[in-house]
Parts: sequence; structure tokens; C-alpha cells
Amino acid sequence: MDLNLAGRRALVTGSSSGIGEATVRMLAEEGAIVVVQGRNRERAEKIAEEIGAAGVAIGDVSSDEVADSVCAEATAALGGNIEILMNNAGGSPTGNSSVPPAEISAADFARNYHTNALAAVRLCKLCIPDMVANKFGRIINVSSAVGMQPNNMGADYSGAKAALNNYTVSLAGSLKGVGITVNTLTPGIVMVEGLLRYGSKRYDKPDLTFDELSERFVDEGIFDMPPVGRLGVPQDLAMVACMLASPLSGYITGANYRVDGGQTRGLN
Ligand SMILES: NC(=O)c1ccc[n+]([C@@H]2O[C@H](COP(=O)([O-])OP(=O)(O)OC[C@H]3O[C@@H](n4cnc5c(N)ncnc54)[C@H](OP(=O)(O)O)[C@@H]3O)[C@@H](O)[C@H]2O)c1
Repeated sequence: MDLNLAGRRALVTGSSSGIGEATVRMLAEEGAIVVVQGRNRERAEKIAEEIGAAGVAIGDVSSDEVADSVCAEATAALGGNIEILMNNAGGSPTGNSSVPPAEISAADFARNYHTNALAAVRLCKLCIPDMVANKFGRIINVSSAVGMQPNNMGADYSGAKAALNNYTVSLAGSLKGVGITVNTLTPGIVMVEGLLRYGSKRYDKPDLTFDELSERFVDEGIFDMPPVGRLGVPQDLAMVACMLASPLSGYITGANYRVDGGQTRGLN
């Protein structure tokens, strides 16, 4: 199936690794013009070269000024306005995944909000006027299963993702008849290098593999193995991101796409 992505201009934030990297690789394979974004210039430039990206846009999108410069740098590299915006940069900058809510500071909540909710708000605000003018836009906000079903720990991260889910529905509803769709993409547990680094440290095992990590997580009761019998890989998410980015997905907006192997117990 041709997703009609050839020549479409895309910015995926946090595409210097993990889910974002898999998505820019897949978008580029589909013929989209992409910019690689992240804070680590060296990694972003390496990926950009490998996939023939239009360029890189480097910086921490959790502040207004940097979001402005990332948007400007991406637009210049793409040679036109951003048509596909995937707000994927995120993760917990505070590392409170084992900390109960009553012990998390307001400053940590604010930090997570800036990274996981406001980074998307900033870039949407910057990109939407041109999308409206051109009557086309695809916005994909990357959330988390804990934004729907929070754990007892790490409420600063899960709360920020829940806010992003809420914002997505409001934004989608407010953009009437202008050719822009806004959706949430919700991963469960996805095996990315960052998670492996975390596991290696947690279990004091430098050569830990993804299989061993998932076994240990399940044994420790950190999560149940999802019904599909394996954990996610970045490409599982990238595939759905490409579908939502496609001009063919014009009837899908305000929706939440769970890509979690059935991990979340919910009707959506
Ligand atoms: N992996 C999972 O199990 C999982 C589960 C649920 C949700 N998610 C969500 O999926 C998204 C992608 O995460 P991932 O798992 O692919 O993790 P990852 O491999 O660590 O990638 C995170 C990416 O985001 C970038 N990034 C982080 N904070 C940033 C900031 N403030 N400004 C600019 N770039 C920033 C990183 O760039 P640099 O390294 O260059 O700084 C990196 O490219 C995140 O929003 C995360 O919350 C992941």
C-alpha cells in the first residue's frame, strides 16, 4: 500500500534514538523529507546521513526559545513548512519511576510537564498556522500507557502524559475543517537502548540483553508480559506513526492509538 508520504515534510522530535529514530527511518523509506531532532548532535547527524535526511534540528524542546529555534531550523532544512509533526521527545527527566507521589517535588512535576506536555504544546503552536494556511497537517503526540493507567510510582511522568492526552483531544476538536488531524500514539513497554541502560544499572549486569531484561521485569512484577507474548520494539510504533502521518488518514483525529501488545486493560 502506498501511504502517499513521498515529498511530505516531517519533523519528529526525539528522533536521535528509539521510537523517534525508527519513525524517521520508516518515513524516509516511504519517501518523506525528514529532519532528525534531539539534543545529541553527533547521533542525530549520523542518523541523518544514513537515511538521507534533509538535516538536523538540535536542542532541548522543553524551553520556549529552543522550540522556536528547532522549528526554524527544521523548516529551513525541509524547504517548507512542517506538514507532519510528531511530538515524541520525552521520557522522565527526573528518574522518579520508583518514587511514590508523596515524595516527588513540585519542581519535578513541573520538569516533567515541560518535557512531556509543554514541548508538544510549543511546537503545535508554532506549526499550526502554516498547516492551516496550507490546509494540511498531521500531528502525532507520543504518550505512554501510564498516561492512561498510572502506576503508583512516577506520577510526575504519568501525570504529564495524561495532560498530553487531554490536550490532544481538545486540539483535535478545535481544528475544524482545516485538514489537520491530531492523534495520540501510546506505547507500552518498548525495548530501547535507554531502557537497557537502566536495566543494566538496576541489575548490575553490563551485558544484559533485552530478553533477560524483560524476564527480570516480569519476575519482579514490574509488569505482566502483554498478551502478544513479547515486549514492543520501536518499529511497532513507527509503523502506526507512518499510518497516522499519511494523507490517507484524514478521517482519524482526536484518537488514541495504543500500541502496547494488549498491555493496557482498557476500552481504548
Ligand atoms: N520506551 C518505552 O518503553 C516508552 C514507553 C512509553 C512511552 N514512551 C515515550 O516514547 C517517547 C520516545 O522515547 P523512547 O523510548 O524512544 O526513548 P529514547 O530512546 O530515550 O529516545 C528519546 C528521544 O527523545 C529525545 N529527547 C528527550 N528529551 C528531550 C528534550 N527535552 N528535547 C529534545 N529531545 C529530547 C532524545 O534525544 P537525545 O538523546 O539526543 O537527547 C531521544 O532522541 C517518549 O516520549 C517516551 O516518554 C516510551
